[in-house]
Amino acid sequence: MKSLSRGAVWTKAVGVVKYGEPRPMAARTKKTAKARRARAARGGLAAIVLAAGKGTRMRSARAKVLHEILGRPLGAYPIELARAVGADPVVAVLGHQRAAVEAALVARFGADGVRVVEQTEQRGTGHAVRLAMPALKSFRGDLALVLYGDVPLLRRETLAALVGTARRYRCLAVVTATPPDATGYGRILRDERGHVIGVVEEKDATPEERRIGEVDAGIYCGPVDFLREATAGLTTRNAQGEYYLTDIVARAAEGIGVTGVEADFRDVAGVNDRQQLAEAEAVMRARTNRALMAHVTFRDPATTDVEPGVEIGVDVELGRGVALRGRTKIGHGARIDDGVILTDTEVGAGAHVRPYCVASEASIGAGASVGPFAHLRPGTKIGPDAHVGNFVETKKTTLGRGSKANHLTYLGDTTVGERVNIGAGTITCNYNGYEKFTTTIDDGAFIGSDTQLVAPVRVGKGAVVGAGTTVTEDVPAGALVITRAAAVQKPGYAQKVAKKYAAARKSG
Ligand code: UD1
Ligand code: CA
Repeated sequence: MKSLSRGAVWTKAVGVVKYGEPRPMAARTKKTAKARRARAARGGLAAIVLAAGKGTRMRSARAKVLHEILGRPLGAYPIELARAVGADPVVAVLGHQRAAVEAALVARFGADGVRVVEQTEQRGTGHAVRLAMPALKSFRGDLALVLYGDVPLLRRETLAALVGTARRYRCLAVVTATPPDATGYGRILRDERGHVIGVVEEKDATPEERRIGEVDAGIYCGPVDFLREATAGLTTRNAQGEYYLTDIVARAAEGIGVTGVEADFRDVAGVNDRQQLAEAEAVMRARTNRALMAHVTFRDPATTDVEPGVEIGVDVELGRGVALRGRTKIGHGARIDDGVILTDTEVGAGAHVRPYCVASEASIGAGASVGPFAHLRPGTKIGPDAHVGNFVETKKTTLGRGSKANHLTYLGDTTVGERVNIGAGTITCNYNGYEKFTTTIDDGAFIGSDTQLVAPVRVGKGAVVGAGTTVTEDVPAGALVITRAAAVQKPGYAQKVAKKYAAARKSG
């Protein structure tokens, strides 16, 4: 037998384990019926996610599974879903740009959340599943799911139905669909009684088979033992010279049996090029937003991105072109106007974020108002009922309850107390070219317009900073500080100068 496991390497958190050549077929099939029954009784579910391919049709320097849909890499969707239906472990077969893909998956699921098997040469989907098998050696359960890394729209209910079918009949359960255009998909072959008997890839299909509308979605669930044996027995005798996973369907039909689980074609669309990526994102966006519309008002759901990890309270209003990313949370009754982009940001109940604000890792208190055109950078905490106006930038800054910074201001590494008024054009000078320093402004202070606060510095409670002041030393509570040269006035000066120039023009 030709070895399929050349280059089989899997890593888990630390280190790399190399597996030797597969044992001969006979030894592998000698599982006793008793052991199988014991496994079946235990239940248990593992998952194998295939994501080693380059994704040639994407025409990208980036591996296909790293392209994102609503902020999540394509490859993360099937893993997330497999975990949601209880699969443990989840094995990801990676190849093309393995290090980058692995890093993205570990960042999302943790080193223990996903086991990585490397497929150095992409010799087909069947080869990929075959390589994943050693990683399931210690898996004591019965069933394994096989998912493709480029099918992100699959629904949890479909997967649960698939697993339930495989478990009930102890067969190979296969998701099928009937898209308006079946081009590019493997076609489902059924016998005259309607039983699934195999899958034929488009490139291998006869003209008659190509007319079949029902396709293979690439989502299988079956007993691990069967998958191991069936993938070990695959050959490359086909149009593409690859080990097709789809060939195991015919094999199951002759043995343990196959059951088709039909799904809506929109849920099982594969993403092979950028057009399909955009379409899949639109479907995911529509699905997410439709669910949220039970309690959230969308001015224009087609232009509003709400990533899967976002939480939104009741009676929230979202404007056109809003993007809510990461772990953003919006409290009830808050209003988020057009073009606002919030990443990992918390917005309190009843707060109002006006158009075109950008915030990340920030919090906005209940009843606060921000923007338009404000930029809240990481570490910003806007207190309840505080106001931040246009062209204000904040970073690692706390603005206390009811305080205001309404115009053209930069606050960095700053703690502002309650009821403070920060005038237009105030700048905290927090950086001396080498180090960052902090500014503290205590409750009730008044900072006049066009002020520079050269950190480290503190403005005491109720103190007043006159407009145009450069504050370089701490200001005691209740004091006034002002750095202003005495004004000089020259009456009639403008007229005098005008006369002078007029005379010069005449003579010249
Ligand atoms: C596959 C199916 C086809 C099905 C379609 C559904 C096969 C032979 N064909 O075709 O019947 O209708 O999916 O979307 O399975 N991969 C690896 N290693 C490999 C090859 C592929 O990990 O050696 C991964 C890819 O990265 C991808 C997935 O498997 O995530 C599917 O591969 P792809 O080449 O896109 O298969 P299709 O031609 O779409
Ligand atoms: Ca595909």
